[in-house]
Amino acid sequence: MNSTRFLSRSLGRYSNAATFLKQQRKVIVNARAFSILSSSTVQKAAIAKFNFLNGPKHYQPNQIRTLKTLDFSGTKENVYERSDWPKEKYQNYFKDDTISILGYGPQGRGQGLNARDNGLNVILGLREGRSWNEAMKDGWIPGKSLFSIEEALKKGTIIFNLLSDAAQKQLWPQIKPHLTKGKTLYFSHGFSIVYKDDTLVIPPKDIDVIMVAPKGSGKTVRTLFLDGRGINSSIAVFQDFTGKAKDKAVALGVAIGSGYLYETTFEREVFSDLVGERGVLMGAIQGLFLAQYEVLRARGHTPSEAFNETVEESTQSLYPLIGANGMDWMYAACSTTAQRGALDWYKPFHDAVKPVFEKLYVSVANGTETRRVLEKNSLPTYREELEKELKEISESELWSAGKVVRSLRPENK
Ligand SMILES: NC(=O)c1ccc[n+]([C@@H]2O[C@H](COP(=O)([O-])OP(=O)(O)OC[C@H]3O[C@@H](n4cnc5c(N)ncnc54)[C@H](OP(=O)(O)O)[C@@H]3O)[C@@H](O)[C@H]2O)c1
Repeated sequence: MNSTRFLSRSLGRYSNAATFLKQQRKVIVNARAFSILSSSTVQKAAIAKFNFLNGPKHYQPNQIRTLKTLDFSGTKENVYERSDWPKEKYQNYFKDDTISILGYGPQGRGQGLNARDNGLNVILGLREGRSWNEAMKDGWIPGKSLFSIEEALKKGTIIFNLLSDAAQKQLWPQIKPHLTKGKTLYFSHGFSIVYKDDTLVIPPKDIDVIMVAPKGSGKTVRTLFLDGRGINSSIAVFQDFTGKAKDKAVALGVAIGSGYLYETTFEREVFSDLVGERGVLMGAIQGLFLAQYEVLRARGHTPSEAFNETVEESTQSLYPLIGANGMDWMYAACSTTAQRGALDWYKPFHDAVKPVFEKLYVSVANGTETRRVLEKNSLPTYREELEKELKEISESELWSAGKVVRSLRPENK
C-alpha cells in the first residue's frame, strides 16, 4: 500500500499526524503487554485514557482501574488492579518475609529491582558470572543482598524461581530440599510445573505455589515501572497450602510492577505463551515476512521496495494503528483499493495457516515443544548453534535490507 496515501487518509482527522503517531507508539509499548487486552472496549478505554493524559509520566492508575470483572466479548474475567494493594499494605503483609530471587535474567532483574524499590526485603541467589556481575552493577551487595543460590534458598521464605526454564529443571534437586513447610514457590511461567513429566519439578505438598507472569520482557517490566505505569501480568495458583496463595500472588504481582493482573492457570498460561511466541509474535511473523519478501524479489522488485512493503510499513505504520484501534478501524481507514484486497485475501491466508496453528497447539500441549527446548538448551553447544542460526537471519537479504532502511530513520542518523 502506498504509505503516503494511506497516512493522509487515515490521519486526516488528526490535526498533527506526528503527535498522533508518537502517542500511539507510547501506547503500544509492547505488543505482548497489550495482546491480553483483546476486548476493544477495554483497549479503547485504556488507550483513550493514555492519550488523554498525554503520556506515561502523567498516568494516574487509579483513574481507570476500577473494574474487577471485565466482559471480554461475553466472557467475564476477573481482573485485579494494583489499587487493591497500596504499597503500605503489601509492605506490611510481607514484613516478615525474605524474597529470594533465583536468576537475574530480564525477569529477575526487572522484578527484583521493582520489588526492592517498592520496599520489600529482596535478596538474590546467583551463581558467579554474568548475572552476578550485572547484579553488583545494580547495587546488590555480596553477603548482604547477593548470595549463592544455596544461601538464598536457605534465607528465603518466598522463592522466586526466575532461572531459565532449562536451569529450573537442572537445579530442582538443589532447590527442593529448601522448600520447607509454609514457604512460597513463585514462578513467572507455567513451564516447569505443567511439564512435570519432563522437568521433574514436583513441589512438596505443604507449600504455596503461585505464578505472576508479566506479559512482556523483563526490560519492559522495569521501564513501565519507572514510568509510573504497570505491565499486565497473568496470575495463577497451582497449590494453596496456607489458604493465602491467591492474596500473595496478587500482592506480589503488584509489588513487582504489574498494573492489571489477569487470572489464569499454569496450564493455560504456558500453552498460550508457547503458541504465541512460536506463532504470531515471532515464528509465524518471520515466516510471513520472508514468504512475501521472497515472492516480491523473485518477481523483480528491488530489496528496498520488497522490505518497505513487507516489514517497514507494517511495523512502523500499520501495526501500531491496528494495536490502538483494531482491524475494523484499519480496514475502514485505508484506501478502497487496499480495503477490498485485505477483505478478500485475509480468508485464504487464514485457511492456509490455521492447520499450522492447530499442529502447533498439539505440539505444545503434548510436550513436544518442551522436550525440544530442554534437549536443545542443555547441549553444551547451544550458544554456538544459536549464534549460527541468528547470524543466518541477520545476514539474509531481507534483514540486511532492513539494516539499511533502519539506518535512514531520523533517530538513527
Ligand atoms: N524473558 C521474558 O520475556 C519472560 C516473560 C515472562 C516470563 N518469563 C519467564 O521468567 C523466567 C526467567 O526468564 P528470563 O528470561 O528472565 O531469564 P533467562 O534468560 O531465561 O534466565 C537467565 C538466568 O538463569 C540463570 N541460569 C541459567 N542456567 C543456570 C545454571 N545452570 N545455574 C545457575 N543459574 C543459571 C542465568 O545465570 P547466568 O547469567 O549466570 O547464566 C540468569 O541469571 C522463565 O521462567 C521465563 O519463561 C520470561
